[in-house]
Amino acid sequence: MDNYAVVGFPVRHSKSPMIHRMFAEQTKQVLTYDRIEVAPEEFIAKVEAFFAGGGKGLNITVPHKERAWEMVDWRSPNAEKAGAVNTLYRLPDGRLAGANTDGVGLVRDIEQNHGCSLENMTVLILGAGGAVRGLLPRLIAARPGRIIIANRTVSKAVTLKTLFADQFTIDVSAYDSLEELAPDWIINGSSAGLQGGMPDLPATLITNHTCCYDMVYAPGGTVFQHWAKKSGARLALDGTGMLVEQAAESFYIWRGVRPETGPVLQALHKLLSDQ
Ligand code: ATR
Repeated sequence: MDNYAVVGFPVRHSKSPMIHRMFAEQTKQVLTYDRIEVAPEEFIAKVEAFFAGGGKGLNITVPHKERAWEMVDWRSPNAEKAGAVNTLYRLPDGRLAGANTDGVGLVRDIEQNHGCSLENMTVLILGAGGAVRGLLPRLIAARPGRIIIANRTVSKAVTLKTLFADQFTIDVSAYDSLEELAPDWIINGSSAGLQGGMPDLPATLITNHTCCYDMVYAPGGTVFQHWAKKSGARLALDGTGMLVEQAAESFYIWRGVRPETGPVLQALHKLLSDQ
């Protein structure tokens, strides 16, 4: 039997086992998918042991994605620039390979599940940490008209601007100078929501054509989603679709089969609404 798992710290709330088991059932693939909780100092040894024991693939989640990027022998072009890896597997020659499917997950959720386009749109991104860097390669490939990264620490947004300067001219901003922007999309990649907060944004930022997307999710909705709804946004989406789509891309890399994401997303929504 082929073995897969998600590695994180903590990882007990991860929905990846449920998602991948549903994909496997749907596509008639015979595999196991577990959770492995690993502290940062044990990460490399545990990953090596998993593959040495015949394991086929790992999903990597917080806080290990950057360390996974460092340890692989080969990176997909997206992962190279993303600076983080969420999917590990072995190449036919035995080298450990790393991919990053988070950006694909976000763009596919927006374009395919919600039927929206990012092409020529003005996209405001909140946050400039690892999560935002990870999605930029695919976001740029979706051909937005303009990308603005706003962050509490503006210098970190400038670092991302410089890193991607060969592909796209990203603008940077502080949160309190966004009044005139009128973005088509606002993507929340800041981790302020983990402490129940969100960046302090001008009330004029949202109009009735603004679509808002939170990269995370929470039962009952995230703080950012509630703010977006209250402010009159056209859409206030959470990251459940991104979670299922990034998983589908990992599954495809590992198994060569593309699962249908719709039924799995429905099951996940039901699970979260029952919590
Ligand atoms: P991740 O891997 O989740 O991106 P990270 O690299 O630590 O984690 O980045 C966290 C992001 O959330 C950063 O953009 C951070 O802003 P700073 O760069 O100014 O630290 C942002 N963030 C975290 N808590 C925040 C808060 N309370 N208000 C605004 N931004 C916050």
